[in-house]
Amino acid sequence: MASALEARITPVRRVAGQVRVPGDKSISHRYALIGALATGTTRITNYSPGGDCSSTLDCLRRLGVAVHVQPGPADRPSARSVTIEGRGLRGFQAPDRDLDAGNSGTTTRLFAGALAAHPFATTITGDESLRRRPMKRVIEPLSRMGARFESTNGSLPLTIIGSSLTPVEYTPTVPSAQVKSAILLAGLQTPGRTVVHEIVPTRDHTELALSAFGASLDRAGGSIAVTGNQPLTAIQGAVPGDPSSATFWAVAAASLPGSDVEILDLGLNSSRIALFDVLARAGAKVERTVDAVEHGEPRGRVRIRHGALQPLTLGPDDVPGLIDEIPALAAMATAGGELTVTGAGELRVKESDRISALAAGFRAMGGEVEEYADGFHLRGRSRLTGGAPDAVGDHRLAMAFAIAGLAASGPTTVRGAEAVDVSYPEFFETLAALVRED
Ligand code: S3P
Repeated sequence: MASALEARITPVRRVAGQVRVPGDKSISHRYALIGALATGTTRITNYSPGGDCSSTLDCLRRLGVAVHVQPGPADRPSARSVTIEGRGLRGFQAPDRDLDAGNSGTTTRLFAGALAAHPFATTITGDESLRRRPMKRVIEPLSRMGARFESTNGSLPLTIIGSSLTPVEYTPTVPSAQVKSAILLAGLQTPGRTVVHEIVPTRDHTELALSAFGASLDRAGGSIAVTGNQPLTAIQGAVPGDPSSATFWAVAAASLPGSDVEILDLGLNSSRIALFDVLARAGAKVERTVDAVEHGEPRGRVRIRHGALQPLTLGPDDVPGLIDEIPALAAMATAGGELTVTGAGELRVKESDRISALAAGFRAMGGEVEEYADGFHLRGRSRLTGGAPDAVGDHRLAMAFAIAGLAASGPTTVRGAEAVDVSYPEFFETLAALVRED
């Protein structure tokens, strides 16, 4: 990853064209990790090119898993293919060094769950941002199952001392797909029935992936139950495009008059597409078509065209379904809309404190933002002037500031733009290809 890259964005007239986005980050992590716990060789195409999903592969290698990576087809080399030689349940080898999860919270929390059932000690560490993020949310349930942990105040470096576990029935206090997944991955390797109750539904890629690999789960209402020691069998699968990455083109199209963007081969899992409903609610024209379903994951096309934007209000029930999309929605609001978000305290413990960094960045571009403990209010009455917002190492903020810059009256320099590599290394090339000045 380049360091301290500045990206210069000049205002544009509109965006248009067809685009494919990188393979879904959440699904890529899960296919790789669950493939490693299965028997046989798992082959994944269109694996996410982002740094986070590379961290997952590095951690697997360190646990004795054979992983092979090949570039994608000539016209999309970044759409890499990954082969994982499964080692079966509890099949990881004790690592001879710490695991480095880089910037990836998903890697850390999912591996904590998978490793809780392995009878050895593993230490996971990560970059400065990841070392600030809370891990008690997985330590608590996994400790109840019988794993032991060493950490300072629930932060990385985190040592997981795994053992034979006993099942739990658990209701996470924060709606989090990562916490749910950690418990299910531990439960999968624990005799008996482990149950997670969700207060608010979160993305269900772990449940779908476990079923695809041959495990049977009981899902009823907000509860998911897994019976341990079900053997998993390798799969072949193509990862659909990541809706959280597509969000940036969707909001650019919604914000700029005359825009018309179609995103192809996109994941359309119902737990991930609240953004498109919100865009339609705000006044954009949105058409969605499912073309296929693979391993339980629908994929298809979404076309977004500009429409006059109405003010938007998002509350606690909306937030889990849009948690990664809020920075982009804020960028849209700067283009003449208005956005009020509450019940989103979780944003403060993401790759950055996304409430204060987002407010600081948009203010640096001439925006009017009021910060709350659990959200913010952003008013787009007058056009942003442009400026030099700092992404503070957060990929989604780097992309949100770039998109906001498209509708500003002057140029924007996004500081720390290299952060896009975490999920979307080709972001700026794709942006250049979508810009229209006619
Ligand atoms: C993810 C879950 C979400 C999301 C993150 C990816 C996942 O985090 O913000 O980018 O793949 O499970 P939480 O589970 O902490 O809400």
